[in-house]
Amino acid sequence: MNLVGNLIINLTYYHVANDVPEINLDIAVVIDVLRATTTISWALKNGADSIQVFADLDLLKKSAMKWDVEKRLMLGERGGKKIEGFDLGNSPLSVTKETVLDKRLFMSTTNGTKSLKRVQNANHLFAMGLPNRKAVAEKIISLNSNNILILGSGWEGSYSLEDSLAAGALASYLKINCNSEVNILNDELEAALALWNFWENDILKCLKTATHGKRLTTLGDYEDDLKCCSELDCLDIVPVQVEKGVIRAS
Ligand code: MLT
Repeated sequence: MNLVGNLIINLTYYHVANDVPEINLDIAVVIDVLRATTTISWALKNGADSIQVFADLDLLKKSAMKWDVEKRLMLGERGGKKIEGFDLGNSPLSVTKETVLDKRLFMSTTNGTKSLKRVQNANHLFAMGLPNRKAVAEKIISLNSNNILILGSGWEGSYSLEDSLAAGALASYLKINCNSEVNILNDELEAALALWNFWENDILKCLKTATHGKRLTTLGDYEDDLKCCSELDCLDIVPVQVEKGVIRAS
């Protein structure tokens, strides 16, 4: 249990980037369970130097070309499929130590990188999947901040079950482990908490029930990706934005 005096923690959750109001943000946590923030977390665990996220593919390619060829990888997907000409798609299983060690990953995905760009002005910006839920939650607790915004990635502007599950998982951890008042400020997060309470013992089933889980299943054999993305609290990595659009392990 972490003691943080009389601090009150206010938690808000938005489903997708376009829902976020124009406000100053202290802490923002971006979630894309399937699969961008899971892949980011595993890449950093496996020794990637950094991940730079882009919405625009031309800009990504131009920026990557300026980097030492031995030290760069272009990584991304559209519609769940690897982008033609890129080194990697968006599988957390592809970012092995042999592939990513000491490299900068230039990354663009359909939804996850958009959410990361949307809140890039926050004082502290973290990327979270289910595997590093506890690590990110402990980091948040240590910062003693009042206002935390959790942002999902959804799918092309609409709700996703798996991001809401993880938002609920984070809120649940904070409520249980933070010795201060934790306020749930919107209905989106109340619903996410209820979702977590319903699925917490069968996370993989929830991911397979989600539309994007089904989409991946129709695209090929993504069983191991889904399993990897469903693992809870197995990574001690906190991906943090260190300059706009650039994420490193803290
Ligand atoms: C996204 O950004 O929408 C996802 O990470 C898609 C995926 O590759 O599964």
